[in-house]
Amino acid sequence: MATVTLSSIAKSFGPTRVLGGVDLDIADGEFLTLVGPSGCGKSTLIRIIAGLEHQDGGAVTIGGQPVDHLRPHERRVAMVFQSYALYPHMSVRQNIALPLTMSRLKLWQRLPLLRALSGQRRAVMRGIEADVAAAAAQLQLDHLLDRKPAQLSGGQRQRVALGRAMVRHPDVFLMDEPLSNLDAKLRVHMRTELAELHKRLGATFIYVTHDQVEAMTMSDRVAMMDSGTILQLGTPSQLYEKPGSLKVAQFIGSPAINLLPASVGAGGRLELFGRPMSLTVQQPQGQAMTLGVRSEALSLVQGEPAGAGRAWFSARLRRKENLGSEYILHFDLAGRDLPGVTMRTSPAQAASVAEAAEVTLGFDEAACHLFAADGERIEPRGPGVASASIVPLRA
Ligand SMILES: Nc1ncnc2c1ncn2[C@@H]1O[C@H](COP(=O)(O)OP(=O)(O)OP(=O)(O)O)[C@@H](O)[C@H]1O
Ligand SMILES: [Mg+2]
Repeated sequence: MATVTLSSIAKSFGPTRVLGGVDLDIADGEFLTLVGPSGCGKSTLIRIIAGLEHQDGGAVTIGGQPVDHLRPHERRVAMVFQSYALYPHMSVRQNIALPLTMSRLKLWQRLPLLRALSGQRRAVMRGIEADVAAAAAQLQLDHLLDRKPAQLSGGQRQRVALGRAMVRHPDVFLMDEPLSNLDAKLRVHMRTELAELHKRLGATFIYVTHDQVEAMTMSDRVAMMDSGTILQLGTPSQLYEKPGSLKVAQFIGSPAINLLPASVGAGGRLELFGRPMSLTVQQPQGQAMTLGVRSEALSLVQGEPAGAGRAWFSARLRRKENLGSEYILHFDLAGRDLPGVTMRTSPAQAASVAEAAEVTLGFDEAACHLFAADGERIEPRGPGVASASIVPLRA
C-alpha cells in the first residue's frame, strides 16, 4: 500500500500550460477524487502519476519513492480507463490474465508452438488461473470468464477492466472516468461497488470524474481542479458546506447553488435586493457581492417575513419537479432580469403552492455563502454566524 505525493507538477502541451504546479499529498489507502470541468487537466495529472505522460517540472513519489524514472508497469499502479481498453478477440479470462501472462511468462513461453512443450509454463499458468479466479469471484464475473467483451453489458465490461487492474495487486488504482460510459442506473450501482471494493482492497484510489455526485459519494477527500490548479481540497462535506470560492460553490451540489446579487451598505451591512440583512462584512460601501444559498436552505415564508437573522425575497413559482420522495421547485425572481432559484422541499410543502403563485422565500442568514467580486469566499459577521471561521483551502 502507498502514499502518493505530487510536488509542483507542471505540464504544457506546446504553448498551452495545462498544469500550473500542482501539489497534492494522498494518504495510504485514501479514496481521493479529482473533479473539475472538462479540460481542467484531470486526465493529464492522473496520466503523469501513471507514467503515461511525463511532467515538465515537479516530482511524483509513490510510497515515499521517487518514480519519475520508472516506466508505467514498474510503478505498482494500475489504471482503469473510461473506454475499458479490453481486447475484443480475447475472452474475459484472457483479458483479466493479460498483465500476469505478460509479467510472469517469458516471451518464448507465450509463443504458440513452443509453449506446449514447457512444464514450467503450465505451473505458471496454474498460478495465473488462480489469481484470475480470485479477482473474478470478487467482482462476480465467475460465470462470464469464457465470454468475449462484445457479449457483455457495459457494467460487466467495466468490471473486467477492474479485474485486470486488480490481478496485479497494485498499491495505487488510478481511474479516469471509469463509469461515464454506463447508463445512469448502472452508474449509481457501480458507485457503491467501487466504494466497497476500495474498502475491501485497502489500496489507494485516485479517481477522476467531472461528475460532482460521483466525487461526493465515494471519496474520502475531493480535489476540485480548475485551469490546471487545485482550487480546494477537502472532504466532500467541507467542499459543500464551506466552498472557498464561487467556482467551487457552483460546481459542487445538485441542484446548483442559488446565486443572488447582494451589496454592501452603510457600516458594512449587507443588503439583499436593497433590504438590509443582519450580516456585516469588511468591504467598502457599494461593493457588489454574490450571495449563495443552497436549494435546501430556502423555505416558503407564510405571513409576515421572520425577523433578525432571516432574509427573504419575492419569487414566482415557474415549475414543480417531482422526484418522488421530494420536489424541486423552480422560481423566477419576480420582475428581475436574473436567473431563477430552486428550492428543495417535501411533497407536502410543494402541494401547498400553485404554479404561477407569487410567494415569499426565506432563508437563515447563517446558512448563506458570500463571495467577493473576485470569487473568493468572505466570512461575514452577524447573529448565528461563527466569526472568523477558517476555511481549509489547501491541505
Ligand atoms: N496530447 C495533448 N496535446 C495537446 N493538448 C493536450 C493533450 N492532452 C491534453 N491536452 C489539452 O490539455 C488540457 C487538459 O486536458 P485533460 O485531458 O487533462 O482534461 P480533463 O480535465 O481530463 O478533461 P475531460 O473532463 O474533458 O476529460 C485540454 O485543454 C486539452 O486539450
Ligand atoms: Mg479527462
